[in-house]
Amino acid sequence: MEKTDVLVISTGNPNKLKEIQSLLKDFPLEVKSKDQVGLEEIEIEETGTTFEENALLKAKGIQQHTGTLVLADDSGITVDALEGAPGVYSARYGGEEGNDRKNNQKLLGALKEVPKEKRGAAFVCAVVVVLPDGKILKATGVTRGTVGFEEKGQGGFGYDPLFILPNGKTMAELTATEKNAVSHRGKALRAIKELLTEEFIPGNQEKFQR
Ligand code: IMP
Repeated sequence: MEKTDVLVISTGNPNKLKEIQSLLKDFPLEVKSKDQVGLEEIEIEETGTTFEENALLKAKGIQQHTGTLVLADDSGITVDALEGAPGVYSARYGGEEGNDRKNNQKLLGALKEVPKEKRGAAFVCAVVVVLPDGKILKATGVTRGTVGFEEKGQGGFGYDPLFILPNGKTMAELTATEKNAVSHRGKALRAIKELLTEEFIPGNQEKFQR
């Protein structure tokens, strides 16, 4: 199948974009960021109370400008000992949008007195695709682990250096391919790929045309 149809990713986060592009590279769609289609000025307010609500806001907010297929993800970390916080506020937990260092320091501080066995957490990712005809596809991926006592590893982004997987490594100690294989975003994107594939079956393809 030719890569004739465009799928716009509703994110300004270059790390997420890289992960999403890599996970969708064998898919018959040309994947572009919102910046690559001239919409870098558009910032969508994440006013939802769930990951899915925010992903939907981000996808619809871009789709009304492009009319193309649009994919958005909303993700974060939920910590058991903090009753699910920072959750949908993960990006701005430390007080400044997207400041990973401050976010990680705040999380370490909040868990200072919490012992190893009570430091369970999950990365959660909700992915939404809006098709040109308005149909909505949704998938969620969850990866469980624990929050470490110090940052470890140079890969990934965000809370990755604090997030310890069952094999003892942090998410930041994995290669990009290894992270995609186990991550919340990888799981959600593989599920959404299956839903998109169903939409691509012969006879359904007009849905992708503008
Ligand atoms: P969003 O852009 O509103 O979805 O915010 C996501 C925030 O959650 C990011 O800024 C990170 O702090 C955190 N996050 C999401 N996905 C990951 C990941 O794969 N690794 C580490 N942190 C993540």
